[in-house]
Amino acid sequence: MSKMEVKTSLLDNMIGVGDMVLLEPLTEESFIDNLRKRFDHSEIYTYIGSVVISLNPYKSLPIFTADKVEEYRNRNFYELSPHIYALADEAYRSLRDQDKDQCILITGESGAGKTEASKLVMSYVAAVCGKGQEVNKVKEQLLQSNPVLEAFGNAKTVRNDNSSRFGKYMDIEFDFKGDPMGGVISNYLLEKSRVVKQPRGERNFHIFYQLLSGASEDLLKKLKLDRDFSKYNYLSLDSATVNGLDDAANFRTVRNAMQIVGFMEDEVQSVLELVAAVLKLGNIEFKPESRVNGFDESRVKDKNDLKEMCELLGIEQSVLERAFSFRTVEAKMEKVSTTLNVAQAYYARDALAKNLYSRLFSWLVNRINESIKAQSKTRKKVMGVLDIYGFEIFEDNSFEQFIINYCNEKLQQIFIELTLREEQEEYIREGIEWTNIEYFNNAIICDLIENNISKDECLRPGNVTDETFLEKLNTVCAYHQHFESRRSKNSKFLTDHSLPHNCFRIQHYAGKVLYRVEGFVDKNNDLLYRDLSQAMYKANHSLMKLLFPEGNPAKVNLKRPPTAGFQFKASVGTLMKNLQTKNPNYIRCIKPNDKKAPHIFTESLVCHQVRYLGLMENVRVRRAGYAFRQPYEPCLERYKMLCKQTWPHWKGPAREGVEVLLTELQVSPEEFSYGRSKIFIRNPRTLFFLEEKRRQCLEDLATLIQKIYRGWKCRTHFLLLKKSQVVVAAWYRRYAQQKKYQKIRSSTIVVQSYIRGWKSRKILRELKYQKRCEEAVTTISAFWHGTQARRELRQLKEEARNKRAVTVIWAAWQGTKVRREYRKFFRANAGKKIYNFTIQRIVQKYFLGLKKTLPSMSPIDKTWPVRPYLFLDNTHKQLQRIFHLWRCKKYRSQFTDEKKSVYEEKLEASQLFKDKKTLYPSSVSQPFKGDYLDINKNPKYQKLSSAVEEKVLLADVVNKINRANGKGAPRVFLLTKSNFVLADQKTGQVKASVPLPDLSSVSVSTQSDGFFALKLKEGSASAAKGDFLLSSDHLIEIITKLHRTGAATTDQIGVDISDEFLVQFKQDKVCVKFVQGTLKNGGTAACKRKNNKLLEVSVPSP
Ligand SMILES: Nc1ncnc2c1ncn2[C@@H]1O[C@H](COP(=O)(O)OP(=O)(O)OP(=O)(O)O)[C@@H](O)[C@H]1O
Ligand SMILES: [Mg+2]
Repeated sequence: MSKMEVKTSLLDNMIGVGDMVLLEPLTEESFIDNLRKRFDHSEIYTYIGSVVISLNPYKSLPIFTADKVEEYRNRNFYELSPHIYALADEAYRSLRDQDKDQCILITGESGAGKTEASKLVMSYVAAVCGKGQEVNKVKEQLLQSNPVLEAFGNAKTVRNDNSSRFGKYMDIEFDFKGDPMGGVISNYLLEKSRVVKQPRGERNFHIFYQLLSGASEDLLKKLKLDRDFSKYNYLSLDSATVNGLDDAANFRTVRNAMQIVGFMEDEVQSVLELVAAVLKLGNIEFKPESRVNGFDESRVKDKNDLKEMCELLGIEQSVLERAFSFRTVEAKMEKVSTTLNVAQAYYARDALAKNLYSRLFSWLVNRINESIKAQSKTRKKVMGVLDIYGFEIFEDNSFEQFIINYCNEKLQQIFIELTLREEQEEYIREGIEWTNIEYFNNAIICDLIENNISKDECLRPGNVTDETFLEKLNTVCAYHQHFESRRSKNSKFLTDHSLPHNCFRIQHYAGKVLYRVEGFVDKNNDLLYRDLSQAMYKANHSLMKLLFPEGNPAKVNLKRPPTAGFQFKASVGTLMKNLQTKNPNYIRCIKPNDKKAPHIFTESLVCHQVRYLGLMENVRVRRAGYAFRQPYEPCLERYKMLCKQTWPHWKGPAREGVEVLLTELQVSPEEFSYGRSKIFIRNPRTLFFLEEKRRQCLEDLATLIQKIYRGWKCRTHFLLLKKSQVVVAAWYRRYAQQKKYQKIRSSTIVVQSYIRGWKSRKILRELKYQKRCEEAVTTISAFWHGTQARRELRQLKEEARNKRAVTVIWAAWQGTKVRREYRKFFRANAGKKIYNFTIQRIVQKYFLGLKKTLPSMSPIDKTWPVRPYLFLDNTHKQLQRIFHLWRCKKYRSQFTDEKKSVYEEKLEASQLFKDKKTLYPSSVSQPFKGDYLDINKNPKYQKLSSAVEEKVLLADVVNKINRANGKGAPRVFLLTKSNFVLADQKTGQVKASVPLPDLSSVSVSTQSDGFFALKLKEGSASAAKGDFLLSSDHLIEIITKLHRTGAATTDQIGVDISDEFLVQFKQDKVCVKFVQGTLKNGGTAACKRKNNKLLEVSVPSP
């Protein structure tokens, strides 16, 4: 089914018929056919009404996943294809919601899948019920109890590799919310004979093999075991390993499960010790030992195993050894000890092993119950799951099969009772007429077993043996329809060779079973010699002590314990009563083949099971009245489209709707009946007719739905477009209005601003006019006041002038009057004389004043008294000049000739250099010393002075500049009247002596440096050596003296002042160039050779 398809009914996509009730025609053949068809399609579940038939697929199917659990969760029973989950869900919901205790009854023969089914139910319930830490722990413990019990209680048989060898009924308890609280497990009669002996092709209980395969070396050593099945008598060898069963892995699973369930580590250890002890016990062998009284007495053959076992369990070896040789019989006051022969010793040993193991198993169940017990005492809802061993028919059937089959018989009984009763009750509940149906009721067989065969009288008055037991049966059950025996009075079987003499046969509901009476009585009595139980009680092993309480000497009970058969009957009785109080849910397991193989469907085998399980009867009973029933609501819901009145909605009650529907469809009235809450359909044909109609109608409806959907889709799309258009239009209009409004608003503002402007300007004009008026008034008044003031001033001035004129006129008048009066007293030229006199007086006064204030006689004093009268200005200047000249004359007249010539030199220097060379001003204040070396007196230059004959005019040390590197070398420079000499400073040796007439000119720079070049006349005798480039601190003095001396002797020596000149060195001319710059070495000029033709002198800038 694709994911999109949603299943709403079990009728959808059905393979065969999902519910056998709908099978048409109903025959055994069609029934089996239907099962096969479904089985071939891996549909292992089929319903008969609410009963689930389950076929063992013998392969894992993908239908038990978590998704499937979700699919079936909270769905109605008939909604989906048949599944065990549907039944589990139904049971769980009715428990939770309707507060009805449930029981799940799983029946079927060995290997049909009961245990698996019970686990599926449990896991489904665990998956759907509540969650939470506490709840999950409970669930986990409940689920993990299974592997533990299966390890100890299951074994491989010829029919099933994991056959349950005990009956199990588990009550799972829930609280009012449906959360699991705990559980109680009841176990029924473990097939303990398996411990000591297994039929061919079968194994002992799984745990023995698991322990030997899965335990660590360490553990095995502790348990004194070897990892070798062949070493243990109790382990059959022919099928010690089973295909598909990993004992070692299972051992780990079991230990893990025990831990989850809550077993302590030491408890697990004790349990394994007991398992090991059983294996050891099997290895103890006996030999006969003759006694004096002629009887044989048994003795333990090889004591090693006995010793190891005793060590393992803490038993005193001698005590156990004695228990295998003697037996104490206590009767009232007596106590008699009898010896055991070898056979009895073996019997005792096996009895001990069986008892040990079965008691251990019961202890395990109790221990698990202790762990999973519900903690709270509140009211519980219960779901019981019954997984009992299936009906068994072996070649050799004994007491165990008898018990097992009895139990199955009882279950069948309860199934018949409950199904029929339920069916009947439903009809009554629904008010439908009910006609009885014939079916086989196995009550008669139950009666045979309970009241005749297993009666204690049969098995236990006096000294009973298997033979006396059979005899008794023969008399009691002689005429019973279902009892057959060779010795019965019914002559029919006297010649039946298939019925041996030591056997009896019972016709069970599931077939005839031949039971061999051998061992019946022993097994029923389940006798364990008291000596052994006492030996066990004495063990220094807590668990062991616990398992054999009757061995306590203080509690000796002489009463025989109840027989196994009696106990079993009682417990089955309780179980049946318990089940009857609960709502039953049936799972009927069918085994498709005997080969444990998938895909094989053995028709005869299935047919046999279908028959004895009474499944056909089940269907018939179910269909006797009506094949199909359904509550009105879902029925109306499913078929309402078939009638106009009910489609699409029916307003009235569902029942009336269904009535209208069926009348409309013209279904014949015999075909159905109206119950109180359900419609009952008699024939499957009618249902199929409805289904077919529905299918056709669904197609039409699909078209209709498509049509309506498409219409709806287009309409909604259109409406959406329309709505969008309205929205768009509204927005556009709003936008347009906004624009228009903004335009009007801005125009209004412009108009407003113009008007306001115009108004303001008007007001401004008025204001300006007003202001002007005010200003005019002020101006006018100011002018007026001005005019007034000026007029007044004029008047006042007029008056004042007039007053002065009066005074002047008066004075003139007075003067005229005075002159007129005094004229006669003065001469006519007196005025001139007075004037001259006054002038003379003033000049006199001027000279006298000047005499007092004359400046000093220094020619450089520039002060001169201030002129007193303007008219003496010229005189004053002349006098100053005359005074200065006179003063200079006075000054000169003091000079000696020597000093005079010095000044003349200075004057000449001034003429040569003033305003031409920057060095000049600094030389003015320095007197020209001439002989700086004190040449005549200095002994150093004695030789030199003697070499020079003439008078030395100038002696100084100069630097001769080397053309190659521009560096200077000190030389003594001497000047005489006729020549100049250059001599070594140190030695005083004359280097050059040049007559002055050979000197043509001197070149110096305009700067503050002391470099000078002495240029020689071309062609002269001295010229051969080349010109001299020298430097001196007394440049001005040297040049001046050279110039003066030269002028005296020969022609004038020219002085060139320029920053670039040529100097003739021997062959070639070199240009000397002066540049200004900042100098590193203390600010004196430095000469540097730039190239062959250029010497550069850097002069510090001023
Ligand atoms: N639903 C299932 N899916 C797959 N395999 C199954 C299923 N049911 C049963 N089997 C297989 O069949 C075997 C026997 O099943 P199970 O043990 O449940 O039988 P049983 O009816 O309990 O027999 P017994 O009466 O001997 O205990 C399982 O071990 C398993 O291999
Ligand atoms: Mg089982």
